Amino acid sequence: MTLLDPRVLVGKARRSIRTRGWGGTLLEALTRSKRSRARRMPRYVGELFFDLRNGTRVRGIVRFEKKGVFEQAFRCETTPRSWVGKALSEVTADSARYTFVDIGCGRGFVLLQALRRRYHRIVGIELAPQIAAEARKNVEAYARRRGLAAGSVEVVAADATTWELPCEPSVLYFANPFSRKIFETMIRRIEESLRRNPRELYVVYTFPESRQVFDDSPSLETVADRKRYVVYRSRAIV
Ligand SMILES: C[S@@+](CC[C@H](N)C(=O)[O-])C[C@H]1O[C@@H](n2cnc3c(N)ncnc32)[C@H](O)[C@@H]1O
Repeated sequence: MTLLDPRVLVGKARRSIRTRGWGGTLLEALTRSKRSRARRMPRYVGELFFDLRNGTRVRGIVRFEKKGVFEQAFRCETTPRSWVGKALSEVTADSARYTFVDIGCGRGFVLLQALRRRYHRIVGIELAPQIAAEARKNVEAYARRRGLAAGSVEVVAADATTWELPCEPSVLYFANPFSRKIFETMIRRIEESLRRNPRELYVVYTFPESRQVFDDSPSLETVADRKRYVVYRSRAIV
């Protein structure tokens, strides 16, 4: 797993020393990680219980060194289960006819939720090959524990901006995996794909920081707009 770039840490430390001084920086360093860890604790406990029940490893956060292909990627962290459940329930279409794609699938937590919803085909796209390998292991462990067939699930280690979108009716899920710049590329690809092959397509977007990109698209219409997620549908649906 890649670690945080020491040059980034040095840059942050320098800026903090300039604004807070040496003493303030030391104090901030001592209390900040404890504060953010304490804030995330209930979520971590939920993830830990999920892992213990299902023989998986989805808990915690994986951070990347912000360089090369990872420059625009956000950290790997599992979406809270209740949000995934609520967001996916907004897709009223018959899941057996749809392909579900988690763009930036991380360690596969959302793929497991899709497996329970019996999508016809389930695909996870993950930029980091080591994380994609963890997702595959999680899918196998979960399916074994729950008596589900994992054959419909495929995890692909690839950059989502170059991966060919499926041409059948699909649900594309995004848990804010990357920066707005990459979302702009993704929407161009989605629009182009819909122009070539008009079809039923849903976009489910949790932590929708870059939602403007989808809001502005003439190819999509909003079907659910909540605080934690937005759901869109292609206008091609008849
Ligand atoms: C916040 S995690 C989401 C995990 C999972 N979808 C969930 O909701 O539980 C985002 C993941 O997107 C991946 N990612 C970022 N940029 C990507 C890209 N261009 N192509 C594919 N995956 C990407 C990261 O490596 C990271 O594991």
